[in-house]
Amino acid sequence: MRRGATTSSSAATDAGTEASLADPAIPPPVVRLLERLWQAGHAAYVVGGSLRDALLDRPAADWDLTTDARPDRLLELFPDAVYENRFGTVVVRRGGVAYEITTFRIDHEYADHRRPHRVEFGDRIEDDLARRDFTVNAMAWGRPTGDTGVGAPLSGPELVDPFDGRADTDAGLLRAVGDPHERFTEDALRMVRAVRLAATLDFTIEPGTLAAISDQAHLAAHLSGERIAMELEKLLAAPSPSVGLRLMADTGLLAVVLPELEAQRDIPQNKATGDDLLDHTLRTVDAAPVDRPIVRLAALLHDIGKPATLADGHFHGHETVGAEMAGDLLRRLRMPRAISERVSLLVRHHMFTYEGTWSDTAVRRFITRIGRHALEELFELREADSIGSGIPADSFGLAELRRRVADQLESQVALGLSDLAINGDDLITELGLTTGPAIGLILDELLDRVIADPDLNDRPTLLVLAQSMLSQDG
Ligand code: CTP
Repeated sequence: MRRGATTSSSAATDAGTEASLADPAIPPPVVRLLERLWQAGHAAYVVGGSLRDALLDRPAADWDLTTDARPDRLLELFPDAVYENRFGTVVVRRGGVAYEITTFRIDHEYADHRRPHRVEFGDRIEDDLARRDFTVNAMAWGRPTGDTGVGAPLSGPELVDPFDGRADTDAGLLRAVGDPHERFTEDALRMVRAVRLAATLDFTIEPGTLAAISDQAHLAAHLSGERIAMELEKLLAAPSPSVGLRLMADTGLLAVVLPELEAQRDIPQNKATGDDLLDHTLRTVDAAPVDRPIVRLAALLHDIGKPATLADGHFHGHETVGAEMAGDLLRRLRMPRAISERVSLLVRHHMFTYEGTWSDTAVRRFITRIGRHALEELFELREADSIGSGIPADSFGLAELRRRVADQLESQVALGLSDLAINGDDLITELGLTTGPAIGLILDELLDRVIADPDLNDRPTLLVLAQSMLSQDG
């Protein structure tokens, strides 16, 4: 396709909803929003990642619209719309789904290689597309400002594609719009977006764009933890995150964004020649289930304690050091505490060993140590770790341990304080204890006894046991 050409879609001949639905597949609520704007005499388009995904026949999320209508006009046309941010983006909800409508923009004044400080509204879709990151994200589908008058038939919508994004989409190429150095200087996150998109879309980064990432990887140091975290989460949801992580390593982004992983390079790991710890980590991440974000994150971080603990060919205590490091790293990325605690726990316990000689009590103690909600994730991490080491997924007696854990969980024996037949209030009312730490200690000890012998878990028996603990202490 010629640079600067626009392509009429097959919907271009007729006006109205039916024709608009033809190609690409735009959901009816989005078409209705566009039509409202068109009928009111405005230019309006679908833009960004959802259009790209629709052209690729991939499930699209978060439909974004852009128009020459100014924000106050949008509030007139859509009385239920609300402002989303100080840049004038409005959000319209239809059927529980939020659609963002943004007035055409001409960005300027990028500060600190992050996002623009100030935006200026524009009148031309081409200017709005020119400020976007990659050609595949710089297409628009819609129609220009109404030359037909309100109520008159509309000319058909078309694909506006000034940077040959359609051809790059078909070729699976990520190419920066214009000068890649400028695009990445404006917003360093775009470099991380490039590797993430390469992995999620299975695209190749065009050589000039890739070289610019290598040149400017250092700018990623300016990015906030939150923005990196959002990209990392999306990257880890890719079929093979290693594609993006390898690109990060090769371009120098990894050293800036996740130096703890960069430190795994050249640390010997597997017996296979040429394999280092980073290779093992990347294979482990790929082997973790794609729909389990916590396990993928734990797989990424499970061995980050190794470089620091390497001595005489061993990584003594790497899981404990690694758990601390994982917590620090995830705090730096401003991940929610529940996530960082769960990932740290998985890293801390990923080296568990199981023997067929374990008693049922030992299995129950294992369950309480890990926490029942984390067990399946720990097993999945262990499987991924094995695959990442080139050994069968169910090594270390994992299949048997899984079965025995399932048996214990099914038999509904007490495995936590809330499963005990008495609680702190009972100790106060029945045994005259006063509120204080002693209550927690007694409950812990009772749980320990019940884990060893589930038959003890009834109210009178536990009260007798508590009483005897008290008299021993007294
Ligand atoms: N964009 C950009 N620079 C950024 C972020 C976004 O130029 N740093 C532009 C791109 O045109 C992008 C659009 O804004 O397509 C919307 O951004 P966003 O919704 O964050 O990402 P998507 O491209 O939609 O990708 P995905 O849905 O896969 O996150």
